[in-house]
Amino acid sequence: MQIEITDKRRNEVEADAEIICVVAKDMDHKWVEDREILKIAGFKGEQDEVCFLAEKRRLYVGAESIGHDDIRSAFAAAVRALRKTGVKSLKSGLYLGKCSAQNVKAMAEGLIFGDYDFDLYKSEKAKHPIKKITICHEDFNGKDIDFQKAKGYIESAEKVAHATNYTRNIVNMPPDDMTPKMLALKAVALAEENGLECTVLDEKGLEAENMGAFLAVSRASEHPPRLIHLAYKPKNPKYRVALVGKGLTYDSGGLSLKPAEYMVTMKADKAGACAVLGIMKAVSELKLPIEVHGIIGATENMIGGNAYKPDDILRAKNGKTIEVRNTDAEGRLVLADCLCYAQEKVAPDYLLDFATLTGACVVALGEYTTGIMGHDRALKHSFSKAATNAGELTGTLQFNRYLKKLIKSEIADVCNISSSRYGGAITAALFLDHFIEDEYKNRWLHLDIAGPAYVEKPWGYNPAGASGAGVRMTVKWFEQIIKQAEKDDNHR
Ligand code: BES
Ligand code: ZN
Ligand code: ZN
Repeated sequence: MQIEITDKRRNEVEADAEIICVVAKDMDHKWVEDREILKIAGFKGEQDEVCFLAEKRRLYVGAESIGHDDIRSAFAAAVRALRKTGVKSLKSGLYLGKCSAQNVKAMAEGLIFGDYDFDLYKSEKAKHPIKKITICHEDFNGKDIDFQKAKGYIESAEKVAHATNYTRNIVNMPPDDMTPKMLALKAVALAEENGLECTVLDEKGLEAENMGAFLAVSRASEHPPRLIHLAYKPKNPKYRVALVGKGLTYDSGGLSLKPAEYMVTMKADKAGACAVLGIMKAVSELKLPIEVHGIIGATENMIGGNAYKPDDILRAKNGKTIEVRNTDAEGRLVLADCLCYAQEKVAPDYLLDFATLTGACVVALGEYTTGIMGHDRALKHSFSKAATNAGELTGTLQFNRYLKKLIKSEIADVCNISSSRYGGAITAALFLDHFIEDEYKNRWLHLDIAGPAYVEKPWGYNPAGASGAGVRMTVKWFEQIIKQAEKDDNHR
């Protein structure tokens, strides 16, 4: 699907059909040419509602507002509906709203998301009949935008949307096909294509790095673990950032085995790792002036005679001992070692981790929202702002000293689960905090994507299954801190 922008007006462009977006409250407005027919058809202009006037070759789609995320969603719905028709080429005007850049990007992202399917394992593949979409230089409110700039926005939105779909595809892969080894091969392929550095450690490498916690989790699996370290190093970077991803290619729970109904979907426990891969892909294609390191702990959590056990005491890379009381709280063990590795090897300005870490986070915020945790209020705020601007939902969960006490251990430095059944998302983050050195405390963010990373029913422009959560918000945050750094440079 090719997205093009032209300086022509809508009536000067040839296409099989046109997308017209209508905000519910404007339904009776005189510019809605077909308002009478639409009324008869029962079209109300509700968000994502579509009505195809086949004879007129017009697809009307509703939106609650012309805010960027409503536009993103409406354009995805429009493409999804038009794919069922015989239409091959489309045109649309602009819906610039408050922030032109954001809205142009949202249109392009919506168009690409509407055309996404995961059909790798279907004998009958999804059809993608729409080959070309022309966006005409004509805004419905008469607002103007620099044509060259708009072109650039579309190109960068395409990169971000394709990186998101790339993440979705890897998350959706079944566990026996996307093993730790395969995930490492994916990373190597990405590194080759995008000119990244890539180092992969196997079990011996993990032993040499004293990663006792990560190794324990991986022990009972037939598929050996991998630590993947990707690096994108542009010239004169403004910052150096380390991204750490939880890459559980399968989480059976281990000896603290999950009940059958909770085990399905646990192929998606690698979504943090896949988000890191997608972000690496996007930043290198966008050529952002930030040095980015992606560090992934890839393993399965399985059962077997050599499995690690509740009651075991593990020693992490930083020397701290961990009492295991539940082998299903494995993500934090893998992340503990990977976070230590990231601080030691990268010495980053910012340290972010992405993980489908706790069911408790889904209980707290609902399925669609990422939990943001960390010590620094300004950092959490700047990240959540970026997420909102990218069209991703987040909620901040606050640390407190009482929850901190709940992971104390009588016989080791820390326990891998809380003594209370409440506040599990935060106590998991406070466990990770034991592996963050003092100088990194205020540069660290923990992002629990257990909810939005994988939802079995479609929501908005997200399909059933993987959503690619984490990719858009992080790229947006990078763009935001680059802008800030440029401003600061100018004031100096
Ligand atoms: N991978 C799960 C968390 C999860 C749950 C992700 C649901 C996505 C959807 C994690 O490893 C886990 O099992 N966590 C336990 C922690 C508990 C044992 C303290 C949980 O959330 O129940
Ligand atoms: Zn688990
Ligand atoms: Zn897990």
